[in-house]
Amino acid sequence: HSSRKRLVAGNWKLNGSLDGNSRLLQELLVRPEMQAECDVLVCVPYVYLPQAVRILKGSAIAVGAQDVSVHAKGAYTGEVSAAMLADIGCRWVIVGHSERRQYHQESSAQVAAKVLAALDAGVTPIVCVGEQLADRQAGQEVCVVQDQLEPIKALGAQIVSRLVLAYEPVWAIGTGLTASPQQAQQMHQQIRAYMESDQVRILYGGSVKADNAAELFAMPDIDGALVGGASLDAQEFLRIVAA
Ligand code: G3P
Repeated sequence: HSSRKRLVAGNWKLNGSLDGNSRLLQELLVRPEMQAECDVLVCVPYVYLPQAVRILKGSAIAVGAQDVSVHAKGAYTGEVSAAMLADIGCRWVIVGHSERRQYHQESSAQVAAKVLAALDAGVTPIVCVGEQLADRQAGQEVCVVQDQLEPIKALGAQIVSRLVLAYEPVWAIGTGLTASPQQAQQMHQQIRAYMESDQVRILYGGSVKADNAAELFAMPDIDGALVGGASLDAQEFLRIVAA
């Protein structure tokens, strides 16, 4: 892992409520000591960002959003800009999650535009890539992931050094089916080679749990995790951070 600092990010997706979030976040705050060697953040729905920022203020846990507009301002009803995220104290954002690509037809070119919008505002993007099951069955997983990465790589080494990547094989998301540490490592190594970056952190996402985190994190090119379901349980999430 050389000099790359580990990162564990929770992605709450479309889950949460004021009461539930408050309980979950308070529970995360009781174990601040583990976060020293590892960046930890929670990516929450837009409306709960101010709540999360307020509760986590002064702690080692940062707050992220789950998407961001490509636009800076103007007549774009329903959109939230990167500057708005920064304005309320949100310094991270997930972009190009497979659920955005799948249900909102987000293209890799749009994802690259979001990366620039985020970085412009001082918000660090976590860029998700990953193949579908059919791609892997056809032996196309590396091509598919490289196609998704191409517009990101084209932004240049300078930009690439400022973002975080997440490999999330779609067939492993929310299915309980994790890529094996070897499968994940292989893809992470390919991604690192393709991006020509020793520095860029590459997270694994897809059914990461307390029980499988350690073996994934033991792999040389896996620098942490993007955690969905297991991030909704404070104890489970803390055990992943500990791993
Ligand atoms: O972004 C995290 C993700 O898509 C993985 O979800 O529930 O399989 O951990 P999950």
